[in-house]
Amino acid sequence: MTNNPIKPLIKFEKVGKWFADGERRSWALKDVDFEVFPKEFFILVGPSGSGKSTILRILSGLETPSSGRVVFSGRARPKIAFVFQNFALFPWLTVFENVEFGLKMEGVPAEERRRRVAAQIEMIGLEKFENYYPRELSGGMKQRVGIARALAVNPQIILMDEPFSELDSFTAKNLRKELLNIWQRRDLTVVMVSHLIEEAVELGDRLAVLTPQPASVEKIIRNGLPRPRDRRAPEFFKIEDETEAILKF
Ligand SMILES: Nc1ncnc2c1ncn2[C@@H]1O[C@H](COP(=O)(O)OP(=O)(O)OP(=O)(O)O)[C@@H](O)[C@H]1O
Ligand SMILES: [Mg+2]
Repeated sequence: MTNNPIKPLIKFEKVGKWFADGERRSWALKDVDFEVFPKEFFILVGPSGSGKSTILRILSGLETPSSGRVVFSGRARPKIAFVFQNFALFPWLTVFENVEFGLKMEGVPAEERRRRVAAQIEMIGLEKFENYYPRELSGGMKQRVGIARALAVNPQIILMDEPFSELDSFTAKNLRKELLNIWQRRDLTVVMVSHLIEEAVELGDRLAVLTPQPASVEKIIRNGLPRPRDRRAPEFFKIEDETEAILKF
């Protein structure tokens, strides 16, 4: 019997990944171990090129591990949605159609699709823009669509790869706040990659700090600060400093 009654939703067990580099194998990940619990806001921080995106791609099923394994709790694989750094919207589809895309793929009937898409678009405040194409939107609006598209399918897990790094700091700040609101209202587990320590400490319940390539988890930092978090509080700085000290290898 374990003392912790909550089972992890995701378990990385000694996950390794190599890519071919000419004749050689170049290891991107080596023995990556971590657990993510249901409803957790989990953040991966690490140096550039350490393997953060590769971890998310393995988690999403876009890549397979070369060694080790990923275990999900429950019998079926949870539904996972992805939010990309560069938004990755379909340029030939309108805002409405972009958000609708996943539901169409799932074969959701038209009437229900319309209802669910409208609800998502309202949530991100883009009702007036639902017939616009991505090229007619600002970066912040594009990422709102990216988030709405991911949430429309009602995923258990949402993966976010530096979702705010291409936005100006003001827009990024607003979107972080909105994301926290959405996450708090839903039964949703977030795994996010960030290279900004301040962002990671503002959002995360726990931070996994990765080593340089090949990535493994150097340390898991628990962040129990109450939300909304005060970026100027001494306790906030303390966790920032702790994270930064580990990142200076
Ligand atoms: N499809 C691929 N083929 C070959 N090498 C790859 C592939 N994908 C990733 N790599 C290599 O794996 C390593 C980790 O890449 P990854 O993109 O996961 O890093 P990252 O931590 O997300 O970096 P960044 O912070 O710059 O986004 C890099 O050395 C990269 O060149
Ligand atoms: Mg990356």
